[in-house]
Amino acid sequence: MSLPKNVRLVEVGPRDGLQNEAQPISVADKVRLVDDLTDAGLAYIEVGSFVSPKWVPQMAGSAEVFAGIQQRAGVTYAALAPNLRGFEDALAAGVKEVAVFAAASEAFSQRNINCSISDSLKRFEPIIEAAQAQGVRVRGYVSCVLGCPYEGRISAEQVAPVARALHEMGCYEVSLGDTIGSGTAGDTRRLFEVVSRQVPREQLAGHFHDTYGQALANVYASLLEGIAVFDSSVAGLGGCPYAKGATGNVATEDVLYLLQGLGIETGIDLDRLIAAGLRISEVLGRATGSRVARARSAG
Ligand code: HMG
Ligand code: MG
Repeated sequence: MSLPKNVRLVEVGPRDGLQNEAQPISVADKVRLVDDLTDAGLAYIEVGSFVSPKWVPQMAGSAEVFAGIQQRAGVTYAALAPNLRGFEDALAAGVKEVAVFAAASEAFSQRNINCSISDSLKRFEPIIEAAQAQGVRVRGYVSCVLGCPYEGRISAEQVAPVARALHEMGCYEVSLGDTIGSGTAGDTRRLFEVVSRQVPREQLAGHFHDTYGQALANVYASLLEGIAVFDSSVAGLGGCPYAKGATGNVATEDVLYLLQGLGIETGIDLDRLIAAGLRISEVLGRATGSRVARARSAG
């Protein structure tokens, strides 16, 4: 299979990245980050979550962030919604695209959203119905596709029915998340090979955390499987509050560098992206997690 000519990057730093920060981050800093990402040419930005603030305190100000950002035509600004309440709050904040999130592991589903996999899928049905009635698109996530912090190994055969259920329910795209970043390129190829028998490859995305340093290799393995959408996080921000020790997503800068080297188009400006990542890293008081940004900004 030849590599895709164009790839869409889904920037999840403001959500998957910042949700895991213990320190307070002001609405102004979050707005600045999203605006910087828009200026860098990202076409899809996950801005925040409409989840319980008791579960994920850092996402509490998501409505204010939506109110503050400069939305550019042609760019999708999305948010997570775990239940109908979250969807309605998102709608009230003017959100035009939401994402629902399920898991391939029962234990993770319980810890992350306090219900079983099958109950979560039932919970998403009215969200998708309401979203379709409002012209809001819904993206789906499956977490723990290559391993679970509580259950260990997860097989591709456990992932496929969950991805298929989300797709059949009306999710236009299903993102497969290596939440704990333990998967290898071999696992990744097999995952997409198996899941694509249930959901077309054009409607699948890869979401790799970099805990074991495998994320870029997994992106490349996915490209070889014909996957053309990847979630990534500027400066490698993030982790997951319900997956202890999980590091951030693969850095957007590093994925972009890889794609540029392969001659694959994204429409993103690497220098601006690096600047966006350095600015939020300064706010957080630590070095960027992007190797490309570190190399480009060194002495
Ligand atoms: P629950 O406690 O079972 O819900 O939580 P509940 O319906 O019993 O409500 C409990 C309280 O939460 C009530 O308030 C509700 O009003 C409130 P109280 O009466 O106690 O004051 N509540 C809400 N508040 C605001 N917004 C809402 C909402 N819903 C209820 N939408 C629930 C169930 C799903 C709400 C909870 O478990 C939750 O919010 N979980 C979110 C967890 C999360 O955001 N995790 C991180 C994102 S997933 C991820 O990072 C993985 C991903 O990146 C892919 C990958 O890497 O694999 C996507
Ligand atoms: Mg994630």
